[in-house]
Amino acid sequence: MEISYPLIILVILLTMTKAQVPGFVNIDCGGTSTHTVDIRLQWTPDTDFPFGQRANTSFRNNNKTQYNTVRFFPADDRKYCYTLNTTTRLRYLVRATFLYGNFDNTNDYPKFVISLGATYWDTIIIKDAATPVLSETVVLAPSPSLTVCLFNASSGLRFISTIELRQFNGSMYYTLFEDQYFMFMAARVNFGAHGNASIRYPDDPFDRIWESDAVKRPNYLVDVAPGTAKISTTKPIYVNRGENPPVKVMQTAVVGNNGTLTYRMNLDNFPGNAWAFTYMAEIENLGPNETRQFKVVLPWGPPINDAIVNVQENANGNYRLYEPGFYNVSLPFIASLDFRQTNDSSRGPILNAFEVFKYVLINFGSADATAMAGIVASNPQAIWAQEGGDPCLPVSWSWIQCNSDSNPAIISIDLSGKNLTGHIPQELTSLTALVEMRNF
Ligand SMILES: *[C@@H]1O[C@H](CO)[C@@H](O)[C@H](O)[C@H]1NC(C)=O
Ligand SMILES: *[C@@H]1O[C@H](CO)[C@@H](O)[C@H](O)[C@H]1NC(C)=O
Ligand SMILES: *[C@@H]1O[C@H](CO)[C@@H](O)[C@H](O)[C@H]1NC(C)=O
Ligand SMILES: *[C@@H]1O[C@H](CO)[C@@H](O)[C@H](O)[C@H]1NC(C)=O
Ligand SMILES: *[C@@H]1O[C@H](CO)[C@@H](O)[C@H](O)[C@H]1NC(C)=O
Ligand SMILES: *[C@@H]1O[C@H](CO)[C@@H](O)[C@H](O)[C@H]1NC(C)=O
Ligand SMILES: *[C@@H]1O[C@H](CO)[C@@H](O)[C@H](O)[C@H]1NC(C)=O
Ligand SMILES: *[C@@H]1O[C@H](CO)[C@@H](O)[C@H](O)[C@H]1NC(C)=O
Ligand SMILES: *[C@@H]1O[C@H](CO)[C@@H](O)[C@H](O)[C@H]1NC(C)=O
Ligand SMILES: *[C@@H]1O[C@H](CO)[C@@H](O)[C@H](O)[C@H]1NC(C)=O
Ligand SMILES: *[C@@H]1O[C@H](CO)[C@@H](O)[C@H](O)[C@H]1NC(C)=O
Repeated sequence: MEISYPLIILVILLTMTKAQVPGFVNIDCGGTSTHTVDIRLQWTPDTDFPFGQRANTSFRNNNKTQYNTVRFFPADDRKYCYTLNTTTRLRYLVRATFLYGNFDNTNDYPKFVISLGATYWDTIIIKDAATPVLSETVVLAPSPSLTVCLFNASSGLRFISTIELRQFNGSMYYTLFEDQYFMFMAARVNFGAHGNASIRYPDDPFDRIWESDAVKRPNYLVDVAPGTAKISTTKPIYVNRGENPPVKVMQTAVVGNNGTLTYRMNLDNFPGNAWAFTYMAEIENLGPNETRQFKVVLPWGPPINDAIVNVQENANGNYRLYEPGFYNVSLPFIASLDFRQTNDSSRGPILNAFEVFKYVLINFGSADATAMAGIVASNPQAIWAQEGGDPCLPVSWSWIQCNSDSNPAIISIDLSGKNLTGHIPQELTSLTALVEMRNF
C-alpha cells in the first residue's frame, strides 16, 4: 500500500509534540536541565552519570544548546561507559558527538578512542574547537543494552557532548550480515543542497544527519566533472520504500550536464567491506522523447558495466525514489564514483544522495565477561564495579589485566580496596586463566 505524501507529513506533525519523539533518546552530556532545541528535539541531561565533571564550552548557540556543555573525564586508565537501553533485535542508529569548545581552557585538542561495548568504534580526533565530530553506527541491538565507552586518550582529556539513539522502522537498513556486523557510517551526503546546512529532524523523521555537498573538506567530494549542476524541485517525492531518505534531501540533486558525474573522496577507516547505496529521483520534467540513462563505472568495484540506470523507468515514474547500491562491496580508502551518460540518452546522469557504511565485525565480548558481570552486580554501589563495558575489550578495566588472546581472559585482579575480604566471590573460581590476585 502506498501512503500519500501529505498523510505522512500529517502523521509526523501529530507525533511532534513537546514530549520526546518515540524511539529517540537524546542525552545531553554535561547538561543541567531538560531542554528542547529549535529542531524540536528534547534533550535530557546525564545528571545521573556518576563519573567525570561538567564543563561549559565556548560554543554559544541557543539553537544547539546540547553543545554548550560537555562531560569530561580525568586522565586515568579507567574506561568510562554510558549504558543505553535497547530492545534486542530492533535496529537503531547510535550517534555520539564531540564538540570540544575549549571546555578546559587549555586548547589541548583531545584524541581518544570510543567503543560500542567490546567492539572498537572510532578514534575521535579534535581538529577544530567549534565543529562537532560525529560518529554514527547502525546496529541490530544484540542485547537489551549497549554501552558506549571512552578510553585510550593520547592527547588532551576525554569528553563527550551527546549520545543519541534513533529506532528504525520495518526493514530499513536490514542486511543479511546484521547478526554479526555493525555498520559504521563513512559518508552520508545530500547532493545539490541549498547552502551548507545539514538536513536532519524533523525533515528526516529518523534524524539521520545528511551533510550538504556544499561543505568543503580536503579530499572529500573532489574531482567534480565539468558541467555538473545543481537542480531542485519543490514538488513532493515518493520516498516511502527502502531506506526512506527524507523528501527534502531528494528534492535536490546534481546532474552531469556534459555527460558525466564524478566524485572522489577519502573514506575514513577504509579499505573495507561496505554497504553503499545511492538515492535517485527524476526531479526534472523530461520531454516525451527524452531519456536520462547512464552507466555506473566502478574502477574499484565489481564489473557492472552493463548495468544501465534509467531513474524514471526504475522508479516507475518521476518524483519517485530509486535506490541502487551494494549490500556488500569492497571499497578502497580513496573511493570514486563515475556515472556516464549513454549515447542514446538526452540527459546526463543524476544523483540526489548517497550513504556509505563500513561493516565491522561485532565483538560479543571476552570469555570472562559473564563471571565479572556477576561480581559487579553483587557490588552495585562500589565505584570499581561501575567501569562498564567489557572487562577486557577493547581495553581492560583499570583493576584487572587480561591476556592478549583473540578472545582474551582475565589473568590478574587487583582486589585492594574492594571490600571483599573474608570470602572469595564464587565467580572468581570460573576465571580459568586467572593466575594472580593482588593485595588479597
Ligand atoms: C556554566 O555556565 C552557566 C551559565 O551559563 C553557569 O551557571 C555554570 O556555573 C557554568 N558551569 C560551569 C561548570 O562552569
Ligand atoms: C536559531 O534559529 C532561528 C529560527 O530557526 C534562526 O532565526 C536563528 O538565526 C538561529 N540562531 C542561530 C544562532 O543560529
Ligand atoms: C534502563 O533499563 C533499566 C533496567 O530495565 C532500568 O532500571 C532503567 O531505568 C532504564 N534506563 C532508562 C534511561 O530508561
Ligand atoms: C589502547 O592503548 C593501548 C596502549 O597504548 C594499545 O596497546 C591499544 O592498541 C589501544 N587500543 C585501541 C583500541 O586503540
Ligand atoms: C514507525 O512505525 C510506527 C508503527 O508502524 C509508526 O507509528 C511510526 O510513525 C513510524 N515512524 C516513522 C518515522 O515513520
Ligand atoms: C559553506 O562552507 C564553506 C566551507 O566549507 C565556506 O567556504 C562557505 O562560505 C560556506 N557557505 C555558506 C553560505 O555559509
Ligand atoms: C560542455 O560541453 C560543451 C560541448 O562539448 C562545451 O562547449 C562546454 O565547454 C562544456 N562545458 C563544461 C563546463 O565543460
Ligand atoms: C562481504 O563479502 C566478502 C567477500 O566476498 C566476505 O568475506 C564478507 O564476509 C562479506 N560480508 C561482510 C559483512 O563483509
Ligand atoms: C523531441 O521531439 C520534438 C518534437 O517532437 C523535437 O523538436 C525534438 O528535437 C526532439 N528532441 C529530441 C532530443 O529528440
Ligand atoms: C558511445 O559511442 C561510442 C562510439 O560509438 C562508444 O565508443 C562508447 O563506448 C559509447 N558510450 C557509451 C556510454 O555507450
Ligand atoms: C564493606 O562491606 C561491609 C559489609 O558489606 C559494609 O558494612 C562496609 O560499609 C563496607 N565498607 C566500605 C568501605 O565500602
